[in-house]
Amino acid sequence: MHGGMTRAAVAVAGVAGLLAVGACGNSDEGDGGGGDKNVQVFTWWADGGEKAGLDGLVAQFGKDCAGFTFQNAAVAGGAGSNAKQVLANNLAAGDPPSTFQAHAGKELKDYIDAGQVDDVSQLYKDYGLDTAFPKSLVDNLTVDGKIYSVPANIHRANVVWASTAVLKKASIDPSKAPASVDAWIADLDKLRAAGVKAPLASGKGFAQEQLMEAVLLAELGPDKFAGLFDKSTDANGADVTAALGKYKTLLSYANADRDAIEWSDALGYVNKGQAGYTLMGDWVAAQQLADKVPDSAYAYWPAPGTQGVFQYLADSFTLPTNGKDPDGAKCWLKVVGSSEGQKAFNTKKGSIPARSDANPADYPKYQQSAMADWKQDKVVPSCAHGSACTLGQNESIQSAISQFSAKRDVATLQKALAQALSS
Ligand code: GAL
Repeated sequence: MHGGMTRAAVAVAGVAGLLAVGACGNSDEGDGGGGDKNVQVFTWWADGGEKAGLDGLVAQFGKDCAGFTFQNAAVAGGAGSNAKQVLANNLAAGDPPSTFQAHAGKELKDYIDAGQVDDVSQLYKDYGLDTAFPKSLVDNLTVDGKIYSVPANIHRANVVWASTAVLKKASIDPSKAPASVDAWIADLDKLRAAGVKAPLASGKGFAQEQLMEAVLLAELGPDKFAGLFDKSTDANGADVTAALGKYKTLLSYANADRDAIEWSDALGYVNKGQAGYTLMGDWVAAQQLADKVPDSAYAYWPAPGTQGVFQYLADSFTLPTNGKDPDGAKCWLKVVGSSEGQKAFNTKKGSIPARSDANPADYPKYQQSAMADWKQDKVVPSCAHGSACTLGQNESIQSAISQFSAKRDVATLQKALAQALSS
């Protein structure tokens, strides 16, 4: 039934949650009265499938880090839309958490350049992480020979999630990915003709940026797309203009409230049969699991025109400079990097382990297929999720994206994009 990445969707992986995890039970409550040391973990994984993933890690932390209590400092908002600002304020005020989440790549470099995170190379030696991760990923975490975080996972950004029932209404085969952005637009048109008012569901900010990225990737191809970030591709070029024109067309099929809702609400439109598709990273697999959406209700494939390309991002955890309780933070990092920790986290998060030694059989079906694709596909970075772009670039791009959502002026968007990428 599923095409493209064709797999039978996500198998139930057992959402353990925080229940009965001793010292790391519920976390927002200080040291739990046991005299343990708190480990304040800052993320944006506050609910749904994201929280389920975090809960998996916390459960493992409870087993491996006796004497430390997990303290949840999560700030809700997809892709850190609120958390990043709160974190920046706390860091600037000299009040860092014990550890915080950051994307491998340019985003991590922001914190390194600002002197806000410590070198953890020694921990790689102590915990045997030196050879646990693919070299290319460790390179993304390394600056001047020093390593600055421990990767928890690999997520895929370029995925479309479709409602099988809605597509069937317009006689569209949900198991087959449209071959190109144009073919996708033709299907969106069919859905509209069949009475689906807003066939492409999208959310605010980063969700629209991700859609734009996927169109650029499809239209430019992986090499030219990657070149946007090292400036070997001219962001002012005519091919970029043409791609942004297609992005504009796609937006004309989107929900009117897209600038007000989260990515998970957009997914809700698909699940409720009000939209045919949403383009979103594979944390959707975890959300579907958390919401108990049956496998048969949805299909997924690589964004049209990006078959064979894996647009990746990686969540990693840092050791902030002068952070609270560094010993507890180090134990957290040890769990994050361990095979048990990666399994506890990624089976529930929709992502695949960053470690190379994981056994696919331990993972739900979706992740099994993503692991296979990760090995064979061409890998490109994501701007929206920090592997290719800095925090500052993303701020500028997202402000241009939200302006574009209202005004739909391609020239203005392209100018802003080119300017952000040139910085
Ligand atoms: C990304 C993050 C993912 C997921 C997503 C939606 O930036 O890397 O793990 O949390 O945002 O919130």
